[in-house]
Amino acid sequence: MICYCCSMTNVASRLVYLQKKPIVGSIARMAGLLFGFQISPDIEIGRGLNIAHRGCGTVLNTATRIGNFVTIYHNVTLARSDSWVPLAGRAFPGFEIQDHVVLCPGSVLLAGKDQLTVGEGTVVGANSVLTKSTGAWEIWAGSPAVRVGKRTDRPRHYRES
Ligand SMILES: CC(C)(COP(=O)(O)OP(=O)(O)OC[C@H]1O[C@@H](n2cnc3c(N)ncnc32)[C@H](O)[C@@H]1OP(=O)(O)O)[C@@H](O)C(=O)NCCC(=O)NCCS
Repeated sequence: MICYCCSMTNVASRLVYLQKKPIVGSIARMAGLLFGFQISPDIEIGRGLNIAHRGCGTVLNTATRIGNFVTIYHNVTLARSDSWVPLAGRAFPGFEIQDHVVLCPGSVLLAGKDQLTVGEGTVVGANSVLTKSTGAWEIWAGSPAVRVGKRTDRPRHYRES
């Protein structure tokens, strides 16, 4: 079995994976809080997660699934759009962050009753407020975020022919 935390070079990313482990998990969770991020160990995370700039200020809702090789910068928030209202048995499908997504600093993703999906390879720009699902390899920015472009830097095998 691959140990994702041992293959990470960056301390915050390692802590996120370590949080899931028995015994050291609770120490890693405390260390994560000291770093200033709140990423629940219950979040399903693929390999190669990059928590940039120690994840300072990043808070992710527990109802989140993260794919492979995702980059999450500091001050990123994934939250319910009505987070002050108790869930009281309502379903909250949350977020799906697909492979190779980049969530830039300060981006806020808000989901309501429908799942918010950030499509493969999509970049959500700095300080953007994303309230809609995106397609693949797109660039979204602004508040509310709109599609401002397509990524041209995607790896060759992902390029359209
Ligand atoms: C979103 C981003 C990737 C777009 O870059 P780009 O593809 O080169 O896009 P452009 O700069 O050509 O901008 C396209 C349009 O989106 C707007 N835009 C770009 N970034 C924006 C942002 N973060 N918020 C609001 N609008 C933005 C531009 O003003 C431009 O609008 P216009 O067409 O009306 O002139 C980039 O602006 C960004 O936010 N990068 C984050 C970098 C960063 O924070 N790195 C981490 C360092 S620690």
